[in-house]
Amino acid sequence: MEVIIVPSSKEIGALAADSIEALVRNKPNAVIGLATGSSPLPIYDELARRHADEGLNFSAVSGFALDEYVGLPSGHFESYREVIRREFTNRVDVAAENVHGPDGSTEDLLGACQAYEDAISAAGGIDLQILGVGTNGHIGFNEPGSSLASRTRIKTLAEQTRQDNARFFDHLDQVPHHVVTQGLGTIMDARHLVLVAFGAGKADAVRDFVEGPVSAACPASILQFHPRATVIIDEAAASKLAGAPSYRHAYDNKPAWQGL
Ligand code: F6R
Repeated sequence: MEVIIVPSSKEIGALAADSIEALVRNKPNAVIGLATGSSPLPIYDELARRHADEGLNFSAVSGFALDEYVGLPSGHFESYREVIRREFTNRVDVAAENVHGPDGSTEDLLGACQAYEDAISAAGGIDLQILGVGTNGHIGFNEPGSSLASRTRIKTLAEQTRQDNARFFDHLDQVPHHVVTQGLGTIMDARHLVLVAFGAGKADAVRDFVEGPVSAACPASILQFHPRATVIIDEAAASKLAGAPSYRHAYDNKPAWQGL
């Protein structure tokens, strides 16, 4: 796992965007896994800027959302498929038919989970998965206790997560209790994981998954088993990392040819 500590969320966005730009220039039909929430917004802003100012081309790219609320009607403002469109894919030239998300509004949720796994496989797998981390260590909506081998399935949100996400709704009561999420096994199949986090509120979760034991109690800790996991965080999110000096030293002395 590579841990990169930068001054602010703007640099997080720029560095993650560099990695995505390198991928897309090398493989124009790249498959990108898309997180929602606040953490990836600096990445999407920077990619939208590069599209507008520098002509970065996403026309052959496909996107797969990490997760979706169950029970929000399709087209709901806070449904993750809509958020992904609004915050990223509509701001660049990703074709609408290439933007995928688990269907959380169908009666057949089990079928939708399998269909989502099948769609990711049919696309050739995810090249680069963008991740945020919850304050309780979740990735996607794999809450503490999730199987480390899990595939796309229905999960019940932890109350902490509902409270954290209530800021996107008018009232806590409107935050769904259930979600469909890529499993930890699904996420681990992506060829490159890029997890971003900023702010002091993430410091405990970052310490636990970077330096704690690999455990279902902290789902993000599964990244320690991934052959190519990049963690890009700001100073505040890094503030509880005992190894911060050595992560900085390694990054400062990284050979330029290596990229992320
Ligand atoms: C969202 C997702 C979640 C978030 C996490 C952090 O698609 O999968 O794991 O990344 O809850 O949320 P923010 O970024 O809003 O702090």
